[in-house]
Amino acid sequence: MIIVGSSNARVGLPLGMAVLRRGGSALDAVEAAIRAVESNPDDHTVGLGGLPNLLGVVELDASIMDGRTRAAGAVAAVRGFEHPISIARRVMEELPHAFLVGEGAERFARECGFPPAELLTPEAQAIYQRGIRGEGTGEVRYGEAILRAMASRLAMQPERASGRDAGTVNVIALDGEGHLASGVSTSGFAWKYPGRVGDSAVIGAGNYCDDRYGAAACTGRGEIAIRAATAHTVVEHLSRGDSPEEAGRKAMEALNELADPFFSAMNVVVLAPDGRHAAFSSLTAATYAVMDERSPEVREIPRTFVPVRADGAGRA
Ligand code: GLY
Repeated sequence: MIIVGSSNARVGLPLGMAVLRRGGSALDAVEAAIRAVESNPDDHTVGLGGLPNLLGVVELDASIMDGRTRAAGAVAAVRGFEHPISIARRVMEELPHAFLVGEGAERFARECGFPPAELLTPEAQAIYQRGIRGEGTGEVRYGEAILRAMASRLAMQPERASGRDAGTVNVIALDGEGHLASGVSTSGFAWKYPGRVGDSAVIGAGNYCDDRYGAAACTGRGEIAIRAATAHTVVEHLSRGDSPEEAGRKAMEALNELADPFFSAMNVVVLAPDGRHAAFSSLTAATYAVMDERSPEVREIPRTFVPVRADGAGRA
């Protein structure tokens, strides 16, 4: 039994591991771990306290996938509910659908009895307003060009707009019966265009899971993970016999075939059915979080650094 995730999953992995230790399923472990991250107001990239879109409204994306059956559920651009990962799971388990967005996802959440929640915390609102006013620190400067482009589309004229493209939580679990599940949840690209959906909710892009070969999940620049089907690409390499280390590296390197002038970062976590794991980042000094059945606590492990330029120069 093992549970792995992005470094911000560390607040949830002990809960996920407790589920696995009690004999619970990988799906239950993933959902429990991600719910804890969604409830963490200090994480401005996921759930409660997440940074809002360009209009100041928090919109959440999430997906979950069951490696036994490759059943999947996803929701996107959901407003007013703290736990999109649980709504995504209910989509997977109760509807003849895999993906709901916006008002339909919110209607379904109400039907399921999920309580409404105010997600914009005073701290997130202050960061949002600093970004809109162009007072961003180094932490929130990334994405300036994207925000300008979006702002001009909305006929706004921020003098020095700033933005950030980071965060999101990944969790992948392997349970005592040898089944895998993977989940991703995010408030998405801060200051994003309203209705923008990233890779987190897109099965194959930010999340993919198959008991036979393994699972992968992404954080970072969602648009490029969508274009490259990054999570599925990793699992495809695993299916051909690559190790997690080889599969993840190849999927990261493939991003160089695409030109993305707004590329920021890409990060991938991989877990194989035999418990081998690996993680990658286009940023130096990035880490990921791991807990296995013997771990007393979460370990933070360096990711393999894979430089990504995404300038199209890697085109065949
Ligand atoms: N990877 C998260 C997003 O792009 O929204």
